[in-house]
Amino acid sequence: MPERAALVTGASSGIGLAIARVLGEEGYGLTVAARRPEKLSVAVEELRAKGYEVEEVAANLTSEEEIQRVVAAHRNRFGRLDVLVNNAGVGVGAPVADIVTKRADMQLDLNLRAIILFYRECADLLRAAGAEHRNALVVNLASIAGKGGAAWLSVYAATKAAVIGWTQSMNKELNGEGIKNVALAPGFVDTPMSDFVKEHVSADKMITPEDIGEAVRYLLKTSPACVIPEIVFQRPGEAL
Ligand SMILES: NC(=O)c1ccc[n+]([C@@H]2O[C@H](COP(=O)([O-])OP(=O)(O)OC[C@H]3O[C@@H](n4cnc5c(N)ncnc54)[C@H](OP(=O)(O)O)[C@@H]3O)[C@@H](O)[C@H]2O)c1
Repeated sequence: MPERAALVTGASSGIGLAIARVLGEEGYGLTVAARRPEKLSVAVEELRAKGYEVEEVAANLTSEEEIQRVVAAHRNRFGRLDVLVNNAGVGVGAPVADIVTKRADMQLDLNLRAIILFYRECADLLRAAGAEHRNALVVNLASIAGKGGAAWLSVYAATKAAVIGWTQSMNKELNGEGIKNVALAPGFVDTPMSDFVKEHVSADKMITPEDIGEAVRYLLKTSPACVIPEIVFQRPGEAL
């Protein structure tokens, strides 16, 4: 059984998979969750081939029951949680007059509500890790859109601004218990999510998922006294 354990949402692709790779390299047992089972299985196969201990849970994280199922599977497998990565997210563009309620709800439910519910469901495990070594870590994926807003991606940007606010609150509430909370706010990262813009911003001008993974590796190694509430990854010329 690994000495430390992590749970990563949206780990079948892009940033989540890059973070899961880093956590595996650092010796963490991993629970990985994402929506489509076939895609998640491919990622899990890769992680297990590297010798990492991986619990695989396909789940739609817009559902409270599914979130509870993911946390229960993690608890049963590892019995502890040192690092929680709330990474799963979606963005659906629309001009304000054309916003479709169902799509707005999906973004609010996955990008924000799921993070709130993961914290609630994991609070006891995170507190136990914080009490043990004072260095439990929660990483929440925000976006540069949450720092400065985004035309036609306004619902997405609002959810990401809320993730930053939520992370600030969690630091105020939980930091004294040895739990560090960090919001990551990248500009365009070269993943399937940014495919829509690659005609205008080429992939080689984007931040890499590995850059974000390395930021998480750094956060694992900082001392409990080093609280970094937010990291903004800005590409050259990208406005906040
Ligand atoms: N790429 C960027 O430019 C960028 C910039 C700033 C912030 N971010 C943020 O970074 C995070 C990761 O994005 P990414 O670029 O790595 O995107 P990605 O490659 O599209 O990966 C998104 C992940 O979330 C999962 N997911 C989507 N809907 C889900 C649902 N309802 N339930 C469970 N899992 C679900 C996906 O699984 P399925 O594929 O099976 O749906 C996938 O594993 C997101 O929060 C995003 O907002 C991305």
